[in-house]
Amino acid sequence: MSKTKDTFSLQFDTTWQYDAAPESASHIRLQKGYDLFIDNKFVPPADGKYFNTVNPSTGKKIAEIARASQADVDLAVQSARKALGPWQALSGASRGKYLFRIARLIQEREREFSVIESMDGGKPIRESKTIDVPLASAHFFYYAGWADKLEYAFPGRNPKPVGVAAQIIPWNFPLLMAAWKIAPALATGNTVVLKPAETTPLTALKLAEIIRDAGLPAGVVNILTGAGDTGAMMVEHPDIDKIAFTGSTEVGKLIQKRLAGTHKKLTLELGGKGANIILEDAAIDQAVEGIINGIYFNQGHVCCAGSRLLVQESVADLVIRKLKDRMETLIVGDPLDKNTDIGAINSAAQLKSIKKYLKKGLAEGTELYQSSCELPSGSGYWCRPSLFTNVAQSNTIVQEEIFGPVLTLQTFRTLEEALEKANNTFYGLSAGVWTDKGSKIFKMTSGLKAGIVWANTYNRFDPTSPFGGYKESGIGREGGLHGLASYIKFEDR
Ligand code: NAI
Ligand code: MG
Repeated sequence: MSKTKDTFSLQFDTTWQYDAAPESASHIRLQKGYDLFIDNKFVPPADGKYFNTVNPSTGKKIAEIARASQADVDLAVQSARKALGPWQALSGASRGKYLFRIARLIQEREREFSVIESMDGGKPIRESKTIDVPLASAHFFYYAGWADKLEYAFPGRNPKPVGVAAQIIPWNFPLLMAAWKIAPALATGNTVVLKPAETTPLTALKLAEIIRDAGLPAGVVNILTGAGDTGAMMVEHPDIDKIAFTGSTEVGKLIQKRLAGTHKKLTLELGGKGANIILEDAAIDQAVEGIINGIYFNQGHVCCAGSRLLVQESVADLVIRKLKDRMETLIVGDPLDKNTDIGAINSAAQLKSIKKYLKKGLAEGTELYQSSCELPSGSGYWCRPSLFTNVAQSNTIVQEEIFGPVLTLQTFRTLEEALEKANNTFYGLSAGVWTDKGSKIFKMTSGLKAGIVWANTYNRFDPTSPFGGYKESGIGREGGLHGLASYIKFEDR
């Protein structure tokens, strides 16, 4: 492990530190246990089984969560099926009214949702407060606006809802992924059964309270908690019309196989190995901030993370020096502290998987730089921001999604070489380009095989903008007008 410290980082280390600035959690009221949300009621699981959700910054249990079995899945699907006719029969304006209510109720409870999101999943409060929760309400607002304008969204095509949707989401953006899935489905007249990930179920259950309080007709939204087996039961259920899945490529492929030859529609949002490309004429300080935001944001638990850094050779030394300096200033710590840049890794299993990649990278002969920051003591799950240099395109850490705060750095000489390296992956979700020249932005963005390409910024999201990849990153789009199309069947006139 090599380490270089320049004057700035030495000064930073020895002269000042931030005082702790914890967000208060005294307003949070959590129950000891949570049941399943079916037909607008919280009901205990049929076989009485529960599992724990833990706080990854302490490793301690927060609450007991119901584990849905086949009987519960059947009940939730029945409830969604029964609600479908009356929900479709409502005017678009009425459906929009409910979505506007949900959006406003999330806004009103923003502080509570942010704190719970950080407690349950480990992400810094600064992010849950400024990204996850506001974007979740923004998605409901955005799709509320489309509910009565579907005829204009798809002129002359007589859009109809697909039916009952099973929606399975991951643990990296728990509330936001629930909003991405539920809002467009409801705006287009579908009913849903949603399953949050087993390590982060709490904000989806809080969203269930909002859905009940918003007066949504019973059965339009059902929320089932459980692990992969519950998800598999939802996928297999014969009375489901559509599956929307976000998660690992492995499970995504499994679902695709299971659905082959059935009537069920499918959208998949899977992993990524995004290239963040720095050209020699880029504003280097801004680019370094963009690199940091691209990979260390949310502990690197981001499918569109800029996990592969490609730097033009002439500025590589400068970028590496500035990047290491900036990494030294990142604070890894209590997710509820407002100064924290990198919170807790989501689960023991995910930390184990990241560590396996760190070892593998070293075994493949690369160099690893990790910031020298202190890690919190105690039983939480932590990982220092990490940078691999001296890597080859064929290294496992360049090929596979690590889903942690781990960046690999490669250099290139020409734009063609950058494009070749960036596109040399099974994935195709995201990429970033940093340059001062508009013409180079056009050249690079048109050559990059990725669903989203950011120019001179990274990891920016907006409900109006479609999101999704190609190759092994997924099928279909979420967000924007494209996100509506995934929940519609067309009865062309
Ligand atoms: P996962 O794909 O197992 O879990 C995602 C969701 O799918 C969870 O709700 C889970 O309960 C459910 N699920 C699991 N097995 C299922 C099955 N057979 N049928 C239906 N639903 C099922 O992902 P996991 O194990 O939590 O993470 C493993 C890796 O996946 C990560 O290290 C990361 O590389 C990648 N990942 C990618 C995400 C993305 O946003 N694209 C999100 C989460 C993980
Ligand atoms: Mg948890």
